[in-house]
Amino acid sequence: MNKKLLSLLLIGLLTVFGLMLVGCGGDDTTTDETEATEDTMTDDTATEDTTTEDTTTEDTEAAATSGDVEYTIKFAHVVAENTPKGQAAIEFARLASEKTNGRVEVEVYPNSQLYNDDEAIEALQLGTIHLAAPSFSKFTGFVKEMQVVDLPFLFESVEQSREAFAGPMGEFLNQKLADSNIMLLAAWDNGFKQLTNNRGPINTPADAENLKFRVQESDVLVSQMQAWGASAEPMAFSEVYNALEQGVIDAQENTYSNTYSQNYQDVQDYLTESNHGLIAYAVVTNPDFWNGLPEDIRTALDEAMAEATEYNSTVAGEINDENKQQLVDAGMELNEMDEEGLQAFRDASYPVWDEYSDVFGEELMTILEDYRQ
Ligand code: LMR
Repeated sequence: MNKKLLSLLLIGLLTVFGLMLVGCGGDDTTTDETEATEDTMTDDTATEDTTTEDTTTEDTEAAATSGDVEYTIKFAHVVAENTPKGQAAIEFARLASEKTNGRVEVEVYPNSQLYNDDEAIEALQLGTIHLAAPSFSKFTGFVKEMQVVDLPFLFESVEQSREAFAGPMGEFLNQKLADSNIMLLAAWDNGFKQLTNNRGPINTPADAENLKFRVQESDVLVSQMQAWGASAEPMAFSEVYNALEQGVIDAQENTYSNTYSQNYQDVQDYLTESNHGLIAYAVVTNPDFWNGLPEDIRTALDEAMAEATEYNSTVAGEINDENKQQLVDAGMELNEMDEEGLQAFRDASYPVWDEYSDVFGEELMTILEDYRQ
């Protein structure tokens, strides 16, 4: 085909795809169209480079046209905006727009507006949304090793968990996610889980006996509650407030920020600082979508994600500290568990580690031994 004609055809194709992307607002077809755009650009430009002498004009024309393509990225999550994840998602959207001169618009859907976490992971795999940040626990049904983060008393500090995510544990889990066609972009943190209930202060496992706790959808968390003599009701985050209000459950475990932003203080009287487990998030995308983005866009988004992750780690502690005080101000009775009580909980919890050692396998369990409290 004549070179000029080929260029025009290419420009025409890119413009049409660009308009479709802008117009579709990130609907179900966005992923495929983005891939199609990228494929067209890469393949045709590459062909032209190798088959023509005077490639400069055509390459510049193609690059200039690709520079007009706009992208809408849908990011769904389940928590409120005034939480560590909610704030980091907003910051990512701002940075993504700033770093791409407005070519990328990240639409953030908080508060389970679009999906609960299970649905979000499926939607991501189908390409209906492009980013999600479920807690590690929520991947249990997809990648069973992700619930390793739920092992009670795994980490002593949030800083230690960050090191683990950046080290061999993170690499191991990253590979498992990749095997399931899920791409890990970052790990965000929230903080440690605390206990709330309506019966009384919890100082030892005996105080938790026979309470029915809501847990995230993770087998390890069910086993943890059973190990404490309590029972567990796995439930989507969006259903917890009503279940507490109606007495379907008596208790729940979550971070101060999730507890406060969901108003559990209105339906729960007792708050116990136990720091027994972490809520951390795997910020994930669909690898076909992400790798299908033009390189300049991907680089900008990678930078935006790195900065939003930094921002998340700065605000997570502050928000949780502030919310802890607000829960007390709202009338919850707070007891901070003493070392004796904590040790009783640790002792009651360790059988859970043994129960899951076969599920997680020797390689992962060996990595964990560095962290176990
Ligand atoms: C929960 O379900 O309790 C948490 O995973 C919610 C969240 O995203 O922090």
